[in-house]
Amino acid sequence: MVTATAIADLCIFLLTWNVGTHVPRNQDLSSLLSLNGTTTCPDNQLPDIYVIGFQEVSTTPQVLKIFNDDPWVLKIADSLNDYQFVKVDSKQLQGILITMFAQHKHIPHMKEIETEATRTGLGGLWGNKGAVSIRLSLYGTGVAFVCSHLAAHDEKLKERIEDYHQIVDNHKYNAQGYRRIFDHDFVFWFGDLNFRLSGDMSAWDVRTDVENQRYADLLKLDQLNLLREKGNAFSLLEEQQPNFAPTFKFVEGTNDYNLKRRPAWCDRILHRVQSNIYPGITLSANQLSYQSHMDYTLSDHKPVSATFNYKVEAINRTYTDEELHEMTHGSASSPATPNVSLFFAFVVFVAVSYTQL
Ligand SMILES: *[C@@H]1O[C@H](CO)[C@@H](O)[C@H](O)[C@H]1NC(C)=O
Ligand SMILES: *[C@@H]1O[C@H](CO)[C@@H](O)[C@H](O)[C@H]1NC(C)=O
Ligand SMILES: *[C@@H]1O[C@H](CO)[C@@H](O)[C@H](O)[C@H]1NC(C)=O
Repeated sequence: MVTATAIADLCIFLLTWNVGTHVPRNQDLSSLLSLNGTTTCPDNQLPDIYVIGFQEVSTTPQVLKIFNDDPWVLKIADSLNDYQFVKVDSKQLQGILITMFAQHKHIPHMKEIETEATRTGLGGLWGNKGAVSIRLSLYGTGVAFVCSHLAAHDEKLKERIEDYHQIVDNHKYNAQGYRRIFDHDFVFWFGDLNFRLSGDMSAWDVRTDVENQRYADLLKLDQLNLLREKGNAFSLLEEQQPNFAPTFKFVEGTNDYNLKRRPAWCDRILHRVQSNIYPGITLSANQLSYQSHMDYTLSDHKPVSATFNYKVEAINRTYTDEELHEMTHGSASSPATPNVSLFFAFVVFVAVSYTQL
């Protein structure tokens, strides 16, 4: 008899939001983070892990920028304060920020946590676009979370494709077997990818189609869909098609499109799983949700979230994380360091929580 044993069965919540240089102030993030009693995880449970990417966070120095954390990271920590979460890591490159929080119980199953950043544009010498990422060994599997902000404007498609390849080429990690983004067993790539609609429909006509929820027709013109088909970029990744209105460009404080730009699905979440690369092990990331959050009117973009069921299953036998890690990452790993840094992350987290009381 074939038996499948789950080594990991996690609900991972991803969120991307271009906050247009606003600070969080009195924003209530509870519905955004599924803390309002309704989640998209199995059995209405809270996510096991949150990975949140922001674009255009304010880079002007904050007077109270304690612990070098951005106000948005502190806001998330504060929002998750009543639950059993620990900040795992964060990385910022100018206005692009990625941060990861996980439930306490998963921390012993995280190793070799690394962050990376790539600035794009002319040799990375100028411009404020690029990507930040967090990679780790999670229950023995290699996963990379990449948050990017690509070149803006309808006509800059070529630059967006170049940005993508520059990020893929320049992103390097130290983990054995996982030097590059696409070496990872699981890749989640999200952000303000800035893809627009091809063709010359007017902003008014796009809005009319959106009002009639003709998303499928509009998505046939979506630059990201078109270039993934052609294999120009993002073709290793999959995306569930959005069943929500374009998330750009709104008049701040409203749900009205600002028709100075043609509405577009700039904010996207893609993923890739290499399901069967280890004998006797099956990896999967079934997508449970993909939605925009219209209640949030802070910036000219709507936040977009997705949840995934991150599963690692062994056929006919069980593995400990260490055995699996050995299989995936090789034996030359050094488990001591992440332990210590996670302990510090926890201490800082507790300290931050206290200073906010
Ligand atoms: C919580 O927020 C989600 C997402 O915004 C929404 O779909 C859901 O209806 C809300 N639930 C409650 C109980 O307000
Ligand atoms: C720390 O590392 C030790 C030895 O590798 C391991 O036994 C222990 O479970 C780890 N603890 C955490 C919290 O990661
Ligand atoms: C699992 O065990 C069954 C029965 O012993 C065998 O037929 C099957 O090939 C095994 N599968 C794997 C992946 O080892």
